[in-house]
Amino acid sequence: MSSSFLLRLLSLAFFQGAVWAEQRKLSPENLLVITVATEETDGFLRFMRTAQEFNYTVKVLGLGEEWKGGDVARTVGGGQKVRWLKKEVQKHSEKTELVIMFVDSYDVIFASGPEELLSKFSRMGHKVIFSAEGFCWPDQRLASKYPEVRTGKRYLNSGGFIGYAPEISAIVQQWKYKDSDDDQLFYTRIYLDKTHRTKFNMTLDHRSRIFQNLNGAVDEVVLKFERAKVRARNVAYDTLPVVIHGNGPTKLQLNYLGNYVPTVWTYETGCGICDDDLLFFNEDEQMPLVYVAVFIEHATPFMEEFLERLSTLNYPKTRIRLFIHNNVVYHERHIQKFWERHRSLFPDARVVGPEENLKEDEARTMAVEVCKKDPECDYYFSIDSDVALTNPDILRILMEENKSVIAPMLSKHGKLWSNFWGALSPEGYYSRSEDYIEIVQGKRVGLWNVPYITQVYLIKGSVLRTKLSQVSLYMDEGGMDADMVFCRSIRDQGVFMYVSNRDEFGRLVASSNYNTSRLHPDMWQIFDNPVDWKEKYVHENYSKIFEDEKTYVEQPCPDVYWFPAFSDKMCDHMIETMEDCGEWSGGTHKDERLAGGYENVPTVDIHMNQISFEKEWLKFLKDYISPVTEKLYPGYYPRAQAIMNFVVRYRPDEQPLLRPHHDSSTFTINIALNRKDIDYEGGGCRFLRYDCKVESPRKGWSFMHPGRLTHYHEGLRVTKGTRYIMVSFVDP
Ligand SMILES: *[C@@H]1O[C@H](CO)[C@@H](O)[C@H](O)[C@H]1NC(C)=O
Ligand SMILES: *[C@@H]1O[C@H](CO)[C@@H](O)[C@H](O)[C@H]1NC(C)=O
Ligand SMILES: *[C@@H]1O[C@H](CO)[C@@H](O)[C@H](O)[C@H]1NC(C)=O
Ligand SMILES: *[C@@H]1O[C@H](CO)[C@@H](O)[C@H](O)[C@H]1NC(C)=O
Ligand SMILES: *[C@@H]1O[C@H](CO)[C@@H](O)[C@H](O)[C@H]1NC(C)=O
Repeated sequence: MSSSFLLRLLSLAFFQGAVWAEQRKLSPENLLVITVATEETDGFLRFMRTAQEFNYTVKVLGLGEEWKGGDVARTVGGGQKVRWLKKEVQKHSEKTELVIMFVDSYDVIFASGPEELLSKFSRMGHKVIFSAEGFCWPDQRLASKYPEVRTGKRYLNSGGFIGYAPEISAIVQQWKYKDSDDDQLFYTRIYLDKTHRTKFNMTLDHRSRIFQNLNGAVDEVVLKFERAKVRARNVAYDTLPVVIHGNGPTKLQLNYLGNYVPTVWTYETGCGICDDDLLFFNEDEQMPLVYVAVFIEHATPFMEEFLERLSTLNYPKTRIRLFIHNNVVYHERHIQKFWERHRSLFPDARVVGPEENLKEDEARTMAVEVCKKDPECDYYFSIDSDVALTNPDILRILMEENKSVIAPMLSKHGKLWSNFWGALSPEGYYSRSEDYIEIVQGKRVGLWNVPYITQVYLIKGSVLRTKLSQVSLYMDEGGMDADMVFCRSIRDQGVFMYVSNRDEFGRLVASSNYNTSRLHPDMWQIFDNPVDWKEKYVHENYSKIFEDEKTYVEQPCPDVYWFPAFSDKMCDHMIETMEDCGEWSGGTHKDERLAGGYENVPTVDIHMNQISFEKEWLKFLKDYISPVTEKLYPGYYPRAQAIMNFVVRYRPDEQPLLRPHHDSSTFTINIALNRKDIDYEGGGCRFLRYDCKVESPRKGWSFMHPGRLTHYHEGLRVTKGTRYIMVSFVDP
């Protein structure tokens, strides 16, 4: 995240006033850290080093005493800790300003200082906070008694807790058990008792803002490096914990973190904390409530990707109310799939399908009215299916601009077609403003007051309920299009509409040449939506060939190159399309070539022209294969012409192998479409002149080798299953 973005978000946090209200200013003199240690183990000394580094005052209980609390690493126990603590905190039970933090020490380090700790504690707004983890220990039967949490860890861990002295004292005064009894069970029972929980104002640190228990969460914690500084960060909840606890079997991970922590990354200087301030602002209950309305009014390419992006918006889903109007029967399958995957994210979502026969203006009216009528609705965000929003922070960014109506600037890839007009003709239609091109191309950057926006925008709920309360935003007796009616209504009420090109937000998807009678119509979108096509169908490491050839291009045999080309999706869609077409043939097409003097090596195959994919395939060769050729065979500039483009099917009982042959090409590419040892056994390719075999093809990877003369080769026998390869003879 850029620092200017952070600053802007912080200023947003300020006008959300309430966030900062009930905080108590606590200073480090009011903090007492208590731990228990009977021996000065290395772990204990490390703990104390980190404490000193950050200037914590630590009271150590039990040094030199005999430990009777059991082996807590392996079994229950730890009661002795509570007994000592009980005695110690009694001394402080009247001090209402004092904050006491208890932490284990053998397997704990501090990652930051008292100021940050206290500031976080105070902002969490509870009197007692226990650390949390994903395991319900020691009594799993209690799991169902825990309050549910939407995100974060649900169960109490007693290795770390913090609270005001009177409450901590009152809690531990209840201890009346044996030294070998379990301390965690003791605290758990108090926490699960609703009366106690309320009385002591207890909560758990579900998202590791203060306490990070590593057990079961190792994958969530990474080291974040920034110049000479480093800080452990929880990437699952985007927090920077202060106390890190290598509980359970995670000692080694703690040792690793301990190599780096502590550092000089303090509250005053560290920018890590700037991020963290955001996290408090991010709290579900504090973020504005947004009604997100999605309109699928016509068949649109890359719908799965569009829907998936809704789930990756960087915004608490609990603060989103989703509405989807789908007017396209073809897309019902995509909504269904999205719903199956993400139902739990949007439990209150409403989907209006094509069977409800709602017209576009009616659907838009229905959606906006819900926000208008709900005083809690802070924002209304409208988005059409042909908008690819690639910036997950969009909601926050637009909110922060604090405008009544604002749209992110988007255009079609490489085109001047955008989602706004810079000026209006006298009749109320498009007119190009002087700076339109500069704005679309990002040569002028800013926030622009414009007369027309469409496809995606954010409206303040308060404006809907005041200045716009009396207007019909989308419906018009004259039958004008909903977007025109919308902009006119807003203009007529004297409300300004803005478009921002201050950030990169995404692009518009072209949907005019979308043929949904094909099985996987997105495959045909390489011309109209090249960026979306690449994201979906080209191997994610393809582009790295040009940055790091050594890693991403292999040479298994002389002059035979091997590189990532297709994504898994492309492989699957290609096979499915071929099987759906089903016109597998053997031999005949090659016979035609005989007249020209080529060899006849019949295969069971389907050609690109049989599925009307020839143009698209040649475009793929030109855009993706030619650059690789030029790089690997310097001096050769392919014309990227290819007449023979086909998918071959090998099966033990059909055509299991291909006898040695030359290809009628300058070079050949051969892309494996499925997985050896999963989809088939055997297979591969042997180049006879070098007696070099490639027996483990990789799905989505392409071979490229010279066709004539040198690379006489054979297709090795498939012994089980079905193998598919995509072959293209380039520059015959
Ligand atoms: C946001 O805009 C409103 C209305 O224009 C204004 O009253 C308010 O002060 C603005 N807030 C910030 C933080 O600029
Ligand atoms: C700890 O205290 C010492 C002495 O008061 C001070 O010099 C040092 O900067 C403090 N360290 C931190 C990390 O606050
Ligand atoms: C106790 O916790 C609740 C949140 O559950 C908080 O709103 C409230 O202010 C707290 N009460 C006191 C007295 O601190
Ligand atoms: C759409 O796809 C179908 C099936 O592949 C094909 O028959 C038809 O010609 C295509 N229509 C257009 C306009 O390309
Ligand atoms: C891309 O490369 C990275 C690192 O080399 C690897 O981890 C990843 O699995 C590769 N992606 C695919 C789809 O193979």
